[in-house]
Amino acid sequence: MASVPICALIILCILLASYQGSLNVDAEVFLVVMEDESVISYKKSGDDALKYKEKVITRHDIFLESLLPADSYSKLYSYTHLFNGFALHTTSREALEVLHSAQGIRIIHEDVKMVKMTTHSPEYLGLPTRVWPSLGGPDMAGDGVVIGLIDTGINPNHPSFANLKPGPPSDIGKFRGKCESAAHEFPLNACNGKIAGAQYFARAAIVSGDFNASHDFASPFDSDGHGSHTAAIAAGNFRIPVISNNFSYGFASGMAPGAHIAIYKAIYSFGGYMSDVVAAVDKAVEDGVDILSLSIGPSAVPTGPAAFLNILEMELLFAVKAGVLVVQAVGNGGPTPSSVLSFSPWITSVAASTIDRKYNNSIIFGNGQVFTGTALSLPTQEGLFLPLAAAEDVCNWNETCILARNCQRPEPFNRSLIQGKLIVCTFSDFIFSPTSVDSIVSTAQKIGATGFVIIMARGRSSEFLNETTSTLNLPLPGIVLSSREASEAFWDYYDSHTLRSKNEVVVKFGACARILDGRHAVYTGKGPSVASYSSRGPDVNNALMQTADVLKPNILAPGTSIWSAWSPTSQSDQYNIGQDFAILSGTSMATPHVAGVAALIKQKHPHWSPAMITSALMTSAMLTDHSGELLSAQVRDGLTPATPFDYGAGFINPSHALNPGLVFDAKFRQYIQFLCVVPGVDDESVRRAVGTGCPTVRSDWCSDLNTASITVSNLVGSRQVIRKVTSVGSMEERYQVVVREPAGVAVTVNPQAFTIQPNSSMILKIMLEGREIANDYTFGELVFNGDKNHVVKVPLAIFVSSTL
Ligand SMILES: *[C@@H]1O[C@H](CO)[C@@H](O)[C@H](O)[C@H]1NC(C)=O
Ligand SMILES: *[C@@H]1O[C@H](CO)[C@@H](O)[C@H](O)[C@H]1NC(C)=O
Ligand SMILES: *[C@@H]1O[C@H](CO)[C@@H](O)[C@H](O)[C@H]1NC(C)=O
Ligand SMILES: *[C@@H]1O[C@H](CO)[C@@H](O)[C@H](O)[C@H]1NC(C)=O
Ligand SMILES: *[C@@H]1O[C@H](CO)[C@@H](O)[C@H](O)[C@H]1NC(C)=O
Ligand SMILES: *[C@@H]1O[C@H](CO)[C@@H](O)[C@H](O)[C@H]1NC(C)=O
Ligand SMILES: *[C@@H]1O[C@H](CO)[C@@H](O)[C@H](O)[C@H]1NC(C)=O
Repeated sequence: MASVPICALIILCILLASYQGSLNVDAEVFLVVMEDESVISYKKSGDDALKYKEKVITRHDIFLESLLPADSYSKLYSYTHLFNGFALHTTSREALEVLHSAQGIRIIHEDVKMVKMTTHSPEYLGLPTRVWPSLGGPDMAGDGVVIGLIDTGINPNHPSFANLKPGPPSDIGKFRGKCESAAHEFPLNACNGKIAGAQYFARAAIVSGDFNASHDFASPFDSDGHGSHTAAIAAGNFRIPVISNNFSYGFASGMAPGAHIAIYKAIYSFGGYMSDVVAAVDKAVEDGVDILSLSIGPSAVPTGPAAFLNILEMELLFAVKAGVLVVQAVGNGGPTPSSVLSFSPWITSVAASTIDRKYNNSIIFGNGQVFTGTALSLPTQEGLFLPLAAAEDVCNWNETCILARNCQRPEPFNRSLIQGKLIVCTFSDFIFSPTSVDSIVSTAQKIGATGFVIIMARGRSSEFLNETTSTLNLPLPGIVLSSREASEAFWDYYDSHTLRSKNEVVVKFGACARILDGRHAVYTGKGPSVASYSSRGPDVNNALMQTADVLKPNILAPGTSIWSAWSPTSQSDQYNIGQDFAILSGTSMATPHVAGVAALIKQKHPHWSPAMITSALMTSAMLTDHSGELLSAQVRDGLTPATPFDYGAGFINPSHALNPGLVFDAKFRQYIQFLCVVPGVDDESVRRAVGTGCPTVRSDWCSDLNTASITVSNLVGSRQVIRKVTSVGSMEERYQVVVREPAGVAVTVNPQAFTIQPNSSMILKIMLEGREIANDYTFGELVFNGDKNHVVKVPLAIFVSSTL
């Protein structure tokens, strides 16, 4: 737990600069998109594609040589597969000006810096009992499917990535990714079949000077831990014992333990650069991954006509066109509305939930009172009560002790006073900068405290410690007590048992306590709830924060306190140094859960398009938690009823997602039609971004894109929305549509009942009529009840307004 939620250092954020704005004088790396065709738009395969690729690379070199003096630039990458372009390093303003007026260039985009943003979860999702058996058991679940991860690399020595498959290697013949080895940390045999390929992309990181070879490693090795964590959530082996700090926490399994992992390392200890990420995505799709999992995203909404048109979103659209499902973290900016950082309708954007496992801990005061709090900590010595000392009572006489009460620095404290005691540090002292639990732990260790208690300051009532949503694996006994009740009881007890001299100096620390073992999981049977940090909709169209007719997030999956694989040499998290497992929280952790479940769907339905898989995940999602209550969302100080802007279509439901009944499909052409009607976007900006002009016949509204949700950000009067459902059932089925109307909106669906044959489609006209202006979104749903037991749910989010 840091002063920002722990996920902030985990989620990787791309800072997106202006899309088509003026060029930044300081920038040195530029992404350039050419007018010419890429390999996928050239529509050739095999040798022809390879030849074309080589030709494109040569053309880039000739183009640059003919324009610029040889010593004025270096080409970092040629992008060939998804779009035709390159990344260029130059410090010469003249070279840039020449490029700007050159023929054949569609876009010049300055590079953008990226900054850094699981064991019980398979059971929680019902995989072992309801899904894996139908796919050949855990070892085969996901077999033949390749999940590509754009992340910090992988720790190839981890048991989660050992090749445990008996017999000959599985057929992933279509996958052509290579293994970049580097003597010690990444030997060639690291790519063992489970790890199907591993490459790294660091040229922009290197020219920027941010790459430090002694800890970032010029190899696919994960020196950070994040990449191993996310890879093992998606496809780590089945039933791997989780041992951390000599304590056994149970077992871990990936969502698709039989799937293959392809690693594209493009993020480093400092973060990363978009030009490296773009190169990684280009290669992953060329190699033939089935699914791309991105626990990375921009730290701000890009400027320009629409967030959808930025270069990475465009590249991901081409990845989808090539048949690759893209799953991305929605961001960790919640619970602020419109904080989503994954925008586009062709991407599956994942929100994070809590799970029903808790690690709470208890403290027993010398007077027998017991309070529960949080922290994954070892106990104080059995049967022994240790003296409690408030931080201000153990600081040096020459210090302003009141400033030391939140224990953020070791300097003010008197070691000889604190030795053998539990130090009591407070949060929510309004005069201080935010309290960081990390700093408290480090202070307690440095000053030699036996343990610590974090508690609300005297007389405060409702301030909230931001970090209580994450679980920390503490190196010494400690507990966080965040309730006012505990704080009042503690201070009463402490003050009545602490003897002070006339000048308030403590002469006897008479209050004492013991901290119990916090490492045993408690299964609460509650949840999931949307995690407070998980970014919230509505989707934003541009930096002006105008909202779009697109539902974001799409789906909710476990993200809080997830155990998964780690890199023991990582220095990125002080609590996990030397450990093989780490417990982390963030939308970074939720994303590979969805990527793994998507691999199971892909295994069962190899020919489904990315949009069909997204539709299956969404229409089957659950709107209730384990106790049957409607989903709730964590806010700063409790729970509130959740909406689709918190959870999308709901909490992921793998067994139903494998057999959804109906799907909403969408193809590249429909996404282009969508882009062409985004408010503020003209045909020329679409052409520049995608290379394809807008069709002359098009729908009037973005809301007509065939997604498994209906969002209208500005309903004036009435609007007809079109959807096309396709039956993926095995028998004829009769569906009856039940409407739950959003407040103030009348909804009719035509036809209201229909019979559909397998593999056939049906057009539905949905009439929305605004009856009341609420000046806010209201929510509802369409439920398609089939007579062969399929239930297909489509969320509605409608904003009725009086003017366009
Ligand atoms: C690179 O990393 C090493 C080890 O982590 C460190 O000692 C060194 O100072 C770093 N170099 C730079 C230039 O930051
Ligand atoms: C872990 O346990 C073993 C055996 O009980 C012990 O020898 C070792 O010192 C312990 N390691 C740590 C880091 O506590
Ligand atoms: C954990 O906390 C819950 C209440 O939040 C309490 O009912 C339960 O007894 C606690 N368990 C332990 C082991 O402290
Ligand atoms: C630290 O505490 C010791 C023992 O109580 C005391 O003698 C000493 O003066 C204190 N030092 C400071 C700098 O306050
Ligand atoms: C207080 O005294 C200690 C011990 O002599 C010293 O290390 C510390 O810097 C002093 N603090 C201040 C604020 O002068
Ligand atoms: C809590 O989070 C808010 C918003 O993210 C931030 O402004 C505030 O400083 C944080 N407070 C603490 C105690 O970390
Ligand atoms: C539906 O189409 C798929 C692929 O074209 C085919 O494999 C399947 O057998 C068809 N299903 C039915 C029930 O006709």
